[in-house]
Amino acid sequence: MRLDKFLAHHLGASRTIVTKELKAKKVTVDGEVIKSGAYQLSPKQIVHYDGYQIEQVTSQRYFMLNKPQGYVCSTDDPDHPTILYFIDEPIPEKLHAAGRLDLDTTGLVLLTDDGKWSHRITSPKHHCEKVYAVTVEQPLGIELIDIFNNGIQLKSEKSLTKPAKLHIIDDFHAELTISEGRYHQVKRMFAAVNNHVVALHRKQIGKVILDIPEGEYRPLTQDEIDSFN
Ligand code: URA
Repeated sequence: MRLDKFLAHHLGASRTIVTKELKAKKVTVDGEVIKSGAYQLSPKQIVHYDGYQIEQVTSQRYFMLNKPQGYVCSTDDPDHPTILYFIDEPIPEKLHAAGRLDLDTTGLVLLTDDGKWSHRITSPKHHCEKVYAVTVEQPLGIELIDIFNNGIQLKSEKSLTKPAKLHIIDDFHAELTISEGRYHQVKRMFAAVNNHVVALHRKQIGKVILDIPEGEYRPLTQDEIDSFN
């Protein structure tokens, strides 16, 4: 992350003020005076302003990301770019996704370094609802509404899926609300009724609604964070 962005954020100052402070030689990184705001700060470096250390990481962080296709939600993958590519924050590798999306699924990913909070989202005990926009290959029949509501037997699973709400928009588009997060759940549910998901997009988790363009991220509001309590 750029040094001027980091300082502006942590000091609550404008970039103009930060630039002045840098020019006045008030900032050191690892003991060396840095005057350029463009300096790229790496996570483990120690920053001092006016003799005081500025901690690089705030205690707990919560973000939403609108994930494009082609990025994995795990934070270290040797074969694909990860969602951390989009996150311009100190020590991004401390963040994890509260519920993953497949490589080709787009939409809402919640990121945090608060393990207890993400557990409330991902643990089956908490029945947190996730809403997906689904595009399928074969026309959708209204009988699917009951089938999904009654629960589906997925291959190599012991129990039926929990009741899921299917809202059919037209022949090939639907909105599906599920309260679990089994492996490839949505794709497997449609496969179990001889259909095939051609596009999948997560719009909502609990009360948190995706409202930013693809490839962007933003901090969650306090209300959004508290909505999982
Ligand atoms: N269900 C899936 O099949 N894939 C996802 O990415 C999310 C839910």
